[in-house]
Amino acid sequence: MLAVLISGRGSNLQAIQENIENGVLQGNAQIAVVISNKAEAAGLAFAREHKLNTAVCPSEAAVLAELEKYRIDLICLAGYMRVLSRDFVYKYAGKIINIHPTLLPKYPGLHVHAKVLAAGDKESGCTVHYVDAGVDTGKIIAQRKVPVRLEDTPDTLAARVLKQEHILYPEVIWRLCKK
Ligand code: GRF
Repeated sequence: MLAVLISGRGSNLQAIQENIENGVLQGNAQIAVVISNKAEAAGLAFAREHKLNTAVCPSEAAVLAELEKYRIDLICLAGYMRVLSRDFVYKYAGKIINIHPTLLPKYPGLHVHAKVLAAGDKESGCTVHYVDAGVDTGKIIAQRKVPVRLEDTPDTLAARVLKQEHILYPEVIWRLCKK
């Protein structure tokens, strides 16, 4: 069972749920709960419309308490804008993954598309990685690449990368869940 942690839009959550609803993700690869640190996260509205369990957990202690209610196999960070503590990561060691919109280890952190453009990189992409106590530093599981175009702005590049995120994240989740 999956816990999906969000803070905002929730388009990766949507991609995961669509793959569940159309039968690509099966068995254990079901969403037990969607947790947001922000009550106004658009992804929560989507989760409720799709009859998923939801929780608003502003603190890490609240997240831990919520997770205790389920048998969670995998915690999927999907635009979750909080860094998890060492204790949290230790407790769920090897069971927390994140998606990041660059080809890590390049450009961890924020404002990444502007950094890719400023550096003049010819390609970018997205990475799914295990979460450790650092920021976007855990072991890389898989990546997908996109070209960077001369006319790109941070927004156009973000949109191109996001399409690949929506393919990559469900693929990796399936790979980890079917084991
Ligand atoms: C994605 O670009 C993801 O890679 C990053 O935050 C964004 C979340 O988007 N970690 P969404 O909330 O899934 O639409």
